[in-house]
Amino acid sequence: MKKLSFLLLPILLLVIISHVHSQLPSRAPVNWYVLQWPPTYCIQLNNENPPGRCIEPILEHNFTLHGLWPADANGYTISCTDSVTVNWNQLIPPIESTLNKFWPNLKEGQPKWSLWKNEYNKHGVCGGLRAKEYFDAAISINKKITLGNLFNYLKTSGIIACDSLAFTKDQIITAVQKVFSSPLHVYLRCPSTGKNATHGYLNEVVLCTDLVEGKYNFISCPQPATPQTCDKFQLLMLPHPQPQSTKAAQRFEEEIDETSPELEQSWAKYAFSI
Ligand SMILES: *[C@@H]1O[C@H](CO)[C@@H](O)[C@H](O)[C@H]1NC(C)=O
Ligand SMILES: *[C@@H]1O[C@H](CO)[C@@H](O)[C@H](O)[C@H]1NC(C)=O
Repeated sequence: MKKLSFLLLPILLLVIISHVHSQLPSRAPVNWYVLQWPPTYCIQLNNENPPGRCIEPILEHNFTLHGLWPADANGYTISCTDSVTVNWNQLIPPIESTLNKFWPNLKEGQPKWSLWKNEYNKHGVCGGLRAKEYFDAAISINKKITLGNLFNYLKTSGIIACDSLAFTKDQIITAVQKVFSSPLHVYLRCPSTGKNATHGYLNEVVLCTDLVEGKYNFISCPQPATPQTCDKFQLLMLPHPQPQSTKAAQRFEEEIDETSPELEQSWAKYAFSI
């Protein structure tokens, strides 16, 4: 009987420990730190059906964070059906102004904090991070981009946002790699339709990180999971902001017509400012 309890105790402990941990999936070996070029994001949004609009003015000299996406050891992003309850009203206010600087919502008409909530609920949870850890991770990885914004690394390599200049993928990758102390593999992502068949628009740059002893480090993005979305283009461009789809503007106005005078007023102010 004594012998049996010696055997049972560790088993019982294991059951308890694994139960505590089963609330969240296990930690992902890789996290994609997905930076987007706002003008390209806005072109894509305008092309959606029905078209969406970006909040103006559209940022043209900075990349912004799209999200932090957990991936497996081969580099493929992980999806899951897990969910956790988050006290957003407690979590966000102390970090809101910090997040807004590098991770702003670009899309017009979205509920408060929706970008951050969606990114955590869709991706963050799957990497086994609690919400606080997820946003702290994003903040600490952003600090590792020592020139402040990824675009500064492109600019110092002669890559600028211009509708008449295009660059090779290697030129862009080499410029991005100046973020690291030694060259690491990164992913480039493009929308399927570019300027034309040969010239694509750069949409996103993915830097990869791991988490070791509570610290995030840049690592080489694993291959072969490289998203091939820029492959069909010979050259890439960083577009300037373009006028927002008028169809979307019309739709927006129509929606406003049906709503409160207060909102109508704010639309009038908005229209005046552009
Ligand atoms: C762009 O990023 C830089 C950091 O390099 C920051 O100082 C600047 O305020 C940002 N500009 C905008 C418009 O957010
Ligand atoms: C694609 O667009 C670029 C940039 O505007 C232009 O230089 C190039 O000639 C175009 N190529 C084709 C095949 O139309």
